[in-house]
Amino acid sequence: MGSGTPMFRVRGLELSLPDFANKPPLGRAPMVDILKGLDFDIEAGSVLGIVGGSGSGKSTLGRTLIRLLEPTAGSIAFEGRDIGHLDEATLRPLRRRLQMIFQDPMSSLNPRRRVGAIIADPLRIHGLDRINARVDEALDHVGLPGSFRARYPHELSGGQRQRVGIARAIAMRPDFILADEIVSGLDVSSQAQVLNLLENLVRELGLTVAFISHDLSVIRRLCSQVLVLNRGTIVEYAPVERIFDAPEAQYTRELLDAIPLPDPDQPGW
Ligand SMILES: Nc1ncnc2c1ncn2[C@@H]1O[C@H](COP(=O)(O)OP(=O)(O)OP(=O)(O)O)[C@@H](O)[C@H]1O
Ligand SMILES: [Mg+2]
Repeated sequence: MGSGTPMFRVRGLELSLPDFANKPPLGRAPMVDILKGLDFDIEAGSVLGIVGGSGSGKSTLGRTLIRLLEPTAGSIAFEGRDIGHLDEATLRPLRRRLQMIFQDPMSSLNPRRRVGAIIADPLRIHGLDRINARVDEALDHVGLPGSFRARYPHELSGGQRQRVGIARAIAMRPDFILADEIVSGLDVSSQAQVLNLLENLVRELGLTVAFISHDLSVIRRLCSQVLVLNRGTIVEYAPVERIFDAPEAQYTRELLDAIPLPDPDQPGW
């Protein structure tokens, strides 16, 4: 953007949800605070890693950024405009620009639709033109042959399915992609391929990405900034080198200590 405005400027972001697990039989579910006063920016063209323990609020934060959830308090400025409380009609054009790749492609791809339709449906919903060309282009970008348009999700490998999930997102020509644990369901070699693909796409298409992962070695490779969440608060937000070389927060050091060290006797390390 170059104007000095970050793509996202998040200030005092809070999110509370009703806690149905603790709802008394007669009465309302108590509210539980899931995100507690978060402040951070995401620069256009950067890849932000979001890390933290299970239940720390990573997915909730990602979903709030792309406005699948409405914040309880605070602001989310996207390109300088607060999108925190826009109604669905006003959000609509933004929905195309803010895309998501899901953790589990098997459950996020409609099993009854062919790959071509899976990628084309959102394009049609958004009234975009040249749909066939866009589908071909997206398949090409993710390294799948055009003949895959006719396949159903169950006729693909896990890695291929995740490529379709990525194709569906990039066919929309988004500016921002939320990638939430997108390789955690894949075997190691498919993981590496999908990550390489994402890395190349970020570069080629100039995407801005929020990448949620519990795999810190992947975060280190892919991300320029890292946000460490613990129980809904930011314990550290810093450039990736600083997180790994000179972590400030005790919690970050504990996360890093939990990474298995490379075994020098093991070939391949
Ligand atoms: N719809 C909801 N209603 C109530 N509580 C919720 C809801 N969604 C999430 N939570 C709670 O919010 C907290 C954060 O959940 P979230 O899914 O964002 O964590 P996460 O960091 O993505 O965890 P994981 O690493 O396991 O995916 C958890 O305590 C979770 O139980
Ligand atoms: Mg999650």
